Amino acid sequence: MTKIITISNQKGGVGKTTTAVNLSAALAQKGKKTLIVDCDPQANATTAIRINKSSLDYSLYHGLIGEAAISDIIQTTAMDNLMIAPSDVELIGFEVEMMAVKGREEILKKLLATLNENRQNSDIFDYLIIDCPPSLSLLTLNALTAADSVIIPLQSEFLALEGVGQLIKTIKLIKQSFNPSLKIEGILMTMFDKRTNLSRQVAQDAEGYFKDMLFKTKIPRSIKLGEAPSYGMPVITYDPSSIATQCYLELADELILREDSLTTRVGE
Ligand SMILES: Nc1ncnc2c1ncn2[C@@H]1O[C@H](COP(=O)(O)OP(=O)(O)OP(=O)(O)O)[C@@H](O)[C@H]1O
Ligand SMILES: [Mg+2]
Repeated sequence: MTKIITISNQKGGVGKTTTAVNLSAALAQKGKKTLIVDCDPQANATTAIRINKSSLDYSLYHGLIGEAAISDIIQTTAMDNLMIAPSDVELIGFEVEMMAVKGREEILKKLLATLNENRQNSDIFDYLIIDCPPSLSLLTLNALTAADSVIIPLQSEFLALEGVGQLIKTIKLIKQSFNPSLKIEGILMTMFDKRTNLSRQVAQDAEGYFKDMLFKTKIPRSIKLGEAPSYGMPVITYDPSSIATQCYLELADELILREDSLTTRVGE
């Protein structure tokens, strides 16, 4: 079974891409066959694992508009078990081009459903991790419609919780319409700095508000996490002994463990 997880928060710069890339790398390191689906026209996840966009024949955009099969799009990476469906800036066009198309919210879901076709059992993906743009756009709607669950990264800073209510409302609407089985996998505190009162206060508020929806693992503020993308590597290979590496591996463990048991159902 392939589990599809969307990383979403319409707020910009909260650690969506960092989490998509490094959680995927951590899952791959643990032997899980993982595909990053870069659903953001900014293509930060694509760049972060050193895919040269100018050399690509196809990106996710071509799959979404029916010009390429998913097998033509996906690329290997320097890590075993880790692959990517890369993005490119032309993905911006998807929003406008699909505006009047019937079933436009299901296009990614249908594309991903073809992924395991013609694959041997041992080649079937364990996880698809979808990185979203910072908006509640048609791309995000597609990502939430395609997913089994969603991880919401929350930056440990002032006003972090603002907007999350809106996102949860949107998730509930999608659950009532396009994707009845959508779950919230968990809320993830990112850029956590245990030395600051503010970080601790935001974490405390989030714990009070989200309770066991919050992942036990908090991602610390880490220079290594900021540096790794400029070397085209996940932090796991950039600095295997860093705390950031340890935390994303712990998050992967937590995810694998809570699979099916603790997953919180939206609206129940
Ligand atoms: N835990 C962290 N410690 C330090 N820097 C971080 C951490 N997480 C993310 N960053 C840095 O913060 C910036 C924003 O992170 P990231 O790109 O992951 O956010 P995002 O939510 O994907 O942004 P966008 O909304 O633009 O897609 C990046 O420069 C990233 O390297
Ligand atoms: Mg991003």
